[in-house]
Amino acid sequence: MKLALIGYGNVGRALARLLRQKRRPFPFTITGIHTLRHGTAIDPAGLPVEPQFGPGAASIEEFLNAARAEIAVELTTLNPSTGEPAISHIRAAFARGMHVATANKGPLAHAYADLRDEAARAGLGFRFESAVMDGAPVFNLWRHTMPGVKVLGFTGALNSTSKVVIETMEGGGSFDEGLADARKMGITEADGAFDVEGWDSAAKTAALANVLMDARATPQQVSTRGITRLTPERMQEMVRGGKTVRLISRGRRTASGLSLRVRAEVLDRCDVLACTPGTSNLILFHTDLMGTFGTVSINPGVEQTAYGVFSDLVELSRGVDGANVVRGNGVVGRHES
Ligand SMILES: NC(=O)c1ccc[n+]([C@@H]2O[C@H](COP(=O)([O-])OP(=O)(O)OC[C@H]3O[C@@H](n4cnc5c(N)ncnc54)[C@H](OP(=O)(O)O)[C@@H]3O)[C@@H](O)[C@H]2O)c1
Repeated sequence: MKLALIGYGNVGRALARLLRQKRRPFPFTITGIHTLRHGTAIDPAGLPVEPQFGPGAASIEEFLNAARAEIAVELTTLNPSTGEPAISHIRAAFARGMHVATANKGPLAHAYADLRDEAARAGLGFRFESAVMDGAPVFNLWRHTMPGVKVLGFTGALNSTSKVVIETMEGGGSFDEGLADARKMGITEADGAFDVEGWDSAAKTAALANVLMDARATPQQVSTRGITRLTPERMQEMVRGGKTVRLISRGRRTASGLSLRVRAEVLDRCDVLACTPGTSNLILFHTDLMGTFGTVSINPGVEQTAYGVFSDLVELSRGVDGANVVRGNGVVGRHES
């Protein structure tokens, strides 16, 4: 199948490498790449390993028309305030009959229900496995293995950058050194403040609630405090007391609606939420039929994020009926509209 990549940064480049590696069993072809400042590359017959970028297409519509792909892969920078322009990119792809895979949590955090319904009406697929946990199965686990289960809440340590910063300070390094280390790994948002101030976690919290609990929440509605007040001295004191800190996302149904929050929580080092070294992520789902269970990903990197997108592409290539979605009431099933 032909792919049009919107965004070619850490994840886009890792995805291109993975597609080359798996080209024989999974013959995807990249026919276009569009970026913000580095221009646009197009070849409907397939771009070479080192694409030549010309001037940027005048608009996303012009790019998608020229790329003539079957799947648009949205990998642009997170905008936690509005989810744009990624939401418009996705709509432009749907308008051209293209399926969409994205690692960008912004659209899920701001417009999930509308995009889900628009895709279903058009008979198109919309996949986003990497948006919350760097490629570890979260949404596909739900979609494919949990029939009839209702999500009552979730608890997650979902921000890798904050963990790298905390571990650096526990070892005596500074906050900024930790952030620089995370940036070198390619795991920070373009604006690292989004990670340490909690906006990345707030967007993930809203995205999880929107997809799994039909919340129609935005990151602004998530009560959020990041890790910016932590210091190396405070972190080392905690280490001596057998404690650590994790930026924890929590969502739960309450009598008055949904409670969504992100906090830097002090945890015992043996707490299951604290057993997430380096870039590791962990999520626990609280459910009616399956009790509490979870997924953990140990030290994922950008290759794992790329794998999550790849898994979406494989799913989309295997046929989409546009109706197989996670239903708004938190129950997995077929969409009936
Ligand atoms: N990195 C990770 O580990 C990770 C993990 C999970 C999810 N994600 C998500 O994946 C997405 C991509 O992350 P990344 O690390 O690859 O980001 P990145 O390295 O900052 O790359 C972003 C890419 O998007 C392009 N871009 C930005 N705005 C655009 C626009 N309006 N139109 C066209 N292209 C635009 C940029 O163009 P230029 O090259 O010209 O600047 C760049 O190529 C983000 O939404 C992020 O939240 C990343």
